[in-house]
Amino acid sequence: MQKAKLLKIDINKIDEGKARFAVNVLRNGGLVAFPTETVYGLGADALNSVAVKKIFDVKSRPPDNPLIVHIASIEYAMLFAENIPDKGKKLAEAFWPGPLTLILKKKENIPSIVTANLDTVALRVPNHPVILFVLQEFGGGIVGPSANVSGKPSPTSAEHVLEDLGDKIDVIIDSGPTDIGIESTVVDVTIDPPMILRLGGLSRELIESIIGKIGTSSDDKVLQRSPGTRHKHYAPNAQVILFPENGKQEFLQLIKKYESEGKKVGMILHSDVFRNLEIKNLFIAINSSIEHIARNIFRALRELDKKEVDVILVESVSEKGIGASVMDRLRKASIRD
Ligand code: TXA
Ligand code: MG
Repeated sequence: MQKAKLLKIDINKIDEGKARFAVNVLRNGGLVAFPTETVYGLGADALNSVAVKKIFDVKSRPPDNPLIVHIASIEYAMLFAENIPDKGKKLAEAFWPGPLTLILKKKENIPSIVTANLDTVALRVPNHPVILFVLQEFGGGIVGPSANVSGKPSPTSAEHVLEDLGDKIDVIIDSGPTDIGIESTVVDVTIDPPMILRLGGLSRELIESIIGKIGTSSDDKVLQRSPGTRHKHYAPNAQVILFPENGKQEFLQLIKKYESEGKKVGMILHSDVFRNLEIKNLFIAINSSIEHIARNIFRALRELDKKEVDVILVESVSEKGIGASVMDRLRKASIRD
């Protein structure tokens, strides 16, 4: 049964009455799903540990996976962080509002449930007029994990949120599909050089253009600083199989193998070499830009699940710019329990 109240708010013409309704729900300890430029988030008052606990419950989120605190602008950062090191300031000036999350030393007042007992806090200023208006009216911090059941592909539309959490949360703000389609890039600036803990909508190349080389972070080091990354992520029900970009031969062999096993196959292809094939259950158009692929990748995984395919064959993308982030999501989606 659907419990959530749906509030449609136009991104270009904000209905302030509806937005203030959502703010009140947050002030009273309720859960509000909201759009950002990356994916939809599930919001609660960051200083209300009872409300934050509900987020972990409805998402079935492991308690060692900390939450991002969303704020309206850098001026609010000092409510939650002890300080912002120089490189953090430079990144914030260059990319906020935007798909960048900074890990900073946390202030004592933040409930430990938000940060999973770490001594750091994740902060982000999202680039979306609707949630920015809500944040300004609210005045504080709103925690916002992606608004999906843990382990599933992140939601890029209000319908996805409704499917996963519609019977468990109070409000869903619907402002249409999100623009970037994959989550923010998480950068730990409490260490020098800073370290990328999660690739996302902001590329390594753009980050390095502002603060210089940041080196590669090994899985071990990331795990140590971001324990929640070890959990299963982004997986549809179907099995995800990755094959090389432009790999027509590999693709044809895989199709043959799975069809001979009687499996229903879904496909996510983008290269021109696939143009003249007869393709079933295809998502993402041939000759797409990497931005188009990123924007649609989680939607494609969800829609193929709805078609009840057994296997999803996914063409790899080159790991340049946000291509590296798309491949990170796809590799994680391909891991089976
Ligand atoms: O784009 C996004 O980041 C979206 C939108 C809604 O803002 N949010 C999002 O949240 O993706 P979530 O909870 O799905 O992912 C948060 C990531 C996780 O990898 C978590 O481990 C990491 O941020 N994180 C949060 N706090 C951290 C901390 N104090 N130290 C290290 N990693 C942290
Ligand atoms: Mg998530």
